[in-house]
Amino acid sequence: MTKRNVVIRTPIPGPRSQEVVAKEQRHLAPGLQGFALWAGVAMDHGQGSTLTDVDGNTYVDLIGGIGVNALGHCHPNYVAALTEQVQKLTVGSFTSAPRAELVNEVCELAPAGLDRLQLYSSGAEAVESALRLARCATGRQEIVGFWGGFHGKTAGAMALMGSPARHGLGPLPTGTTLVPYADCYRCPFQLTYPSCALACADFARRAMKVQPAGPLAAVIAEPMQGTAGNVIPPKEFITAIADAAHDVGAVFIADEMITGFGRTGKPWGVDHSGVAPDICTIGKGFGSGFPIAGVLTRTDIAQAKPWSNPSGASSSYGGNAFASAAALASVRTVRVERLWDNAERVGAAMLAELRRMQERYAFIGDVRGAGLLLGMDLVKDRQTKEPLHASVMKQVYADCVRRGLLAMTYTPHIRLQPALTIDLDTALEGLAILDDVFRNLEESGRWR
Ligand SMILES: Cc1ncc(COP(=O)(O)O)c(C=O)c1O
Repeated sequence: MTKRNVVIRTPIPGPRSQEVVAKEQRHLAPGLQGFALWAGVAMDHGQGSTLTDVDGNTYVDLIGGIGVNALGHCHPNYVAALTEQVQKLTVGSFTSAPRAELVNEVCELAPAGLDRLQLYSSGAEAVESALRLARCATGRQEIVGFWGGFHGKTAGAMALMGSPARHGLGPLPTGTTLVPYADCYRCPFQLTYPSCALACADFARRAMKVQPAGPLAAVIAEPMQGTAGNVIPPKEFITAIADAAHDVGAVFIADEMITGFGRTGKPWGVDHSGVAPDICTIGKGFGSGFPIAGVLTRTDIAQAKPWSNPSGASSSYGGNAFASAAALASVRTVRVERLWDNAERVGAAMLAELRRMQERYAFIGDVRGAGLLLGMDLVKDRQTKEPLHASVMKQVYADCVRRGLLAMTYTPHIRLQPALTIDLDTALEGLAILDDVFRNLEESGRWR
């Protein structure tokens, strides 16, 4: 018997939501996250893995702020820490007790060897800093990234964006090379794992030697790709590309923005392969909603100049006392409560449920997951793997919202990444709604 969190009191969006959204739309510039625009609801409050809108409708939240909401909405530790800190000190870069605690707390949990942390206020900003650091540390310029990769929307990060989302936004900085990621469901080499012998990693290794216009400074990769559709590569892939980077004298940057802090059922995404990155970028679940991000690295790399000069790696908001208190509450709770264990347990049950759905519905081409990073591909035909049409997916999303489920079901690459604190009943309640929506889609035949 699954828990009943969902309460739907009005048609969705309800009258008060419509009023608030209309008010906002008078002056809000376009470009907001699609799922927020298409839902058309205004949220009032959240608790754990539920959100309640201004009309009193309560939804199960499997979006989790796209991996930001590690602790769930309004976790008591988080509320207490921020309530206390806002009354004491918020602004400035002077040393504060929360920041002193935070850097130590993070470095205790960090991947082996990473014992220096610098702080920023967005993921893209941290990625830019990591790229600068790699260039300073190696004295080289060129960077390799991956198809499907996403590292933010600043110029340097977009030069490493492996998707058409960057079309129309150029010119982008030069000195980057993009190579295929191990997206096994849509293998760019049309091969099958494991008989492929990781041809993509071999290709990447060769590309690192022949494609850049100078010696390679860094290879940057997500240990599992989020924006591409929560894609989980074979374990050996990350090991192979980190080794290839090291063999040409480059550093390996693991972008752990989504995969860090327990999301994938282990503290870090790289823990699945045992790779020791030279630099790690962190964010999202790091602050559980507070905009804080960071660059983790080894002491020797952190000395590189001019990155390490006074003001060389700083920013206006990075690691102020307020941000540090938020991140400290988040990281400490993740660590003390070993939330990666909950991610592993609930994620495994969700994955099993999604696989059961795949047996029932021919349009589910692929199901994949690690901990609470879960993905699905919806296709017209399992042979051709042609994705379901965008208009069908918009309808799927609208049906989910109408029934009380918030999930990234508006593209054929469905992504689920709820809070790490989600309980099994709530997760299954959300998936039961998804199952209802899929059953309707199947019966309507609209997906063909
Ligand atoms: C892997 C990864 N890196 C970097 C970023 C950029 O983070 P932000 O949106 O905080 O700039 C994202 C955002 O989705 C991400 O998924």
